[in-house]
Amino acid sequence: MTAGDLVAFILYLFQIVIPMTQLTAFFTEFQKAMGATERIIETLNAPEEDYSTGRALENTSQPIVLDNVTFAYKPGEVILQGVSFAVEPGKVTAIVGPSGSGKTSLFSLLERYYQPTEGVIRLGREPIGNFSLQSWRSQIGYVSQESPLVAGTIRENICYGMERAVSDDELRQAAKMAYADQFIDELPDGYDTEVGERGIKLSGGQRQRIAIARALLRDPKILMLDEATSSLDSKSEFVVQKALNNLMQGRTTLVIAHRLSTVVDADQILFLDKGRITGMGTHEELMRSHEMYREFARQQLRMKELVQEI
Ligand SMILES: Nc1ncnc2c1ncn2[C@@H]1O[C@H](COP(=O)(O)OP(=O)(O)OP(=O)(O)O)[C@@H](O)[C@H]1O
Ligand SMILES: [Mg+2]
Repeated sequence: MTAGDLVAFILYLFQIVIPMTQLTAFFTEFQKAMGATERIIETLNAPEEDYSTGRALENTSQPIVLDNVTFAYKPGEVILQGVSFAVEPGKVTAIVGPSGSGKTSLFSLLERYYQPTEGVIRLGREPIGNFSLQSWRSQIGYVSQESPLVAGTIRENICYGMERAVSDDELRQAAKMAYADQFIDELPDGYDTEVGERGIKLSGGQRQRIAIARALLRDPKILMLDEATSSLDSKSEFVVQKALNNLMQGRTTLVIAHRLSTVVDADQILFLDKGRITGMGTHEELMRSHEMYREFARQQLRMKELVQEI
């Protein structure tokens, strides 16, 4: 090889190495992007819910009746088994039971996120599937277990899902009823404070109260509350409890209770165990007749005493 050939070879070599590294870097980036968009594409491809087909719902002051409802997310794995009960309009029905017994799943059926595998849910005499999703869901206020917030301001989070404009007075009133006005006013930007992704900048109790304010603002006829399992300190618990009491007034309420304070005043208590209803009645009745309910109540009471001792 001549000296000239060698120099040319080395120069070419340098020129080829750089694009090669760029090419490999591109493929790693490409793979990463593929992984990241998989979920987005899955969501975009999911069938859209039919929101408008069906009758408009007029009279909500009728009992909600579950008739022998069985439900499974996957065939063979039964989550709810032959559940039957009625919820009277304007009354409070509390659902208690161990973790994983299917309480939140029951709410998903009532919200019509899923269809029962067997059996039927009725409002009065009519299966709820006859009403359009739009008119059914607009009657329901749902405070879910995690009280999820979206990235944005407190104002946006409280007004989330409202179809009309909300005045400042209305907003304040809802926050006040939810016992959220005080901590919001103490924040430097008040109602315009950014809550961060999933509400990360607020505490659990604060998030819950914002979720309650959101439900209050919608003024729903049917209220579904899924109490958070995570324990609040007794002071926040007391405040959240008061906010919930405000919210429940004069509505058909279904509440999944993890705290005794919510259940004692309920008109009807259902005990759900492994997807079956094993007890139904008032607090006194269940205390007398239901072993597991007694246990639940005793544990809750003991917690209360411990808190007071401290
Ligand atoms: N989206 C889902 N897909 C598949 N299985 C699910 C889904 N959601 C819940 N499950 C299963 O259903 C069962 C009941 O769950 P559910 O959330 O209804 O319990 P829960 O009574 O609300 O419990 P907790 O008191 O802890 O909130 C669990 O075994 C759970 O694994
Ligand atoms: Mg749950």
